[in-house]
Amino acid sequence: SSRCVVAVDGPSGSGKSTVSRRLATGLGARYLDTGAMYRAVTWAVLRSGVDLHDAAAVAKVAAEIDLAVGTDPAAPTFDVDGTCVDVAIRGNEVTGAVSAVAAVAEVRRLLVDRQRALVEAADRIVIEGRDIGTVVAPDADLKVYLTASAAERARRRSAENAADVAATAADLARRDQHDTTRAVDPLAQASDAVELDSTALGIDEVVATIREQLLARG
Ligand code: C5P
Repeated sequence: SSRCVVAVDGPSGSGKSTVSRRLATGLGARYLDTGAMYRAVTWAVLRSGVDLHDAAAVAKVAAEIDLAVGTDPAAPTFDVDGTCVDVAIRGNEVTGAVSAVAAVAEVRRLLVDRQRALVEAADRIVIEGRDIGTVVAPDADLKVYLTASAAERARRRSAENAADVAATAADLARRDQHDTTRAVDPLAQASDAVELDSTALGIDEVVATIREQLLARG
């Protein structure tokens, strides 16, 4: 089978993870959640006790940890120095700090290098994040920019986390603002990305639409 790289970008709560994981399973592809990589580094930074706004100290933590990245769509597991962080990286503490860590240029350089190597090593891969089509995999076979209305994104996230809708909406707005305005590799739609608004679509419909796009491209 031929090499196939699918890049999925979009704001928080657009459905990227669910859609990308299901798409990868259907394609028999690897699945790379780059947001989980930034979250795992953030977990390590919080554990280390260094100041989140000390870029050099944050970068040092990122460089020194042993980050094991799982790319099996059935079990995309992340370990930091041998500790499984899958649950911890979804907690409020990490979610509240991740945008600051992801804004550190040296952290991005390290993780983008790692992401490119994982793409290179895979035969087929679905990779999701904020800068995949623009920075990590500009030569992807298909680029999808997944969106949904702010209200729908907050509704989905709060249902997932059993959290308050208003608080979730505020958190999403804060992270989107941070992610789209940071100096290094901000969230942006690649000029050659297919934009898909999932506000009124179910997961299966989004996955089917992406598969049609892939078929259309041969
Ligand atoms: O996708 P997820 O919500 O888990 O991403 C967590 C955070 O990681 C984002 O809010 C963003 O700050 C950062 N991120 C990034 N670049 C990526 C993926 C995630 O900056 N490619």
